[in-house]
Amino acid sequence: MSKWLTRSHLDTRGVQPPVKKKLEGPLNGNPEEGKKIAMNTGAGNCWACHALPGDAQPGNQGPSLIDFAKRGLSDEEVYQTIYDRRSVNPMTAMPPFGALGTLTDQQVRDIAAYLQSLK
Ligand code: HEC
Repeated sequence: MSKWLTRSHLDTRGVQPPVKKKLEGPLNGNPEEGKKIAMNTGAGNCWACHALPGDAQPGNQGPSLIDFAKRGLSDEEVYQTIYDRRSVNPMTAMPPFGALGTLTDQQVRDIAAYLQSLK
């Protein structure tokens, strides 16, 4: 079964409550890896909904992340947003990548490091 939650009646996983995960230790993410995961339709697939640098057909469901680092958010805030955006905005349309197990903890760290590098 796909790691993405679906609305199919065959998908019996249900929806778990939002998880606000504490960032343990320093972020230690690899921005190069994070970029690959963000652009991979079988992994982060972030560009389906967000504009990212080098993306010819940017998604526009979510805000542009082109110069994301200018938001000045802490590593922990960015980590938590990718881990489970619902812990920040309960009404979000963004999938809870970490809480759902779509991405590993290290992949969440890599993408967070990538976003923090976008100036
Ligand atoms: C299904 C569409 C969708 C996907 C896929 C998606 N997002 Fe989002 N994301 C959204 C929407 C919609 C919002 C704005 C609503 C909100 O506040 O959550 C958002 C908000 C965000 C924000 C907060 C933006 C800000 O201005 O502070 C970040 C950061 C973010 N997404 C990163 C990511 C990353 C990284 C990925 C890939 C791992 C991703 N998103 C995948 C839809 C998506």
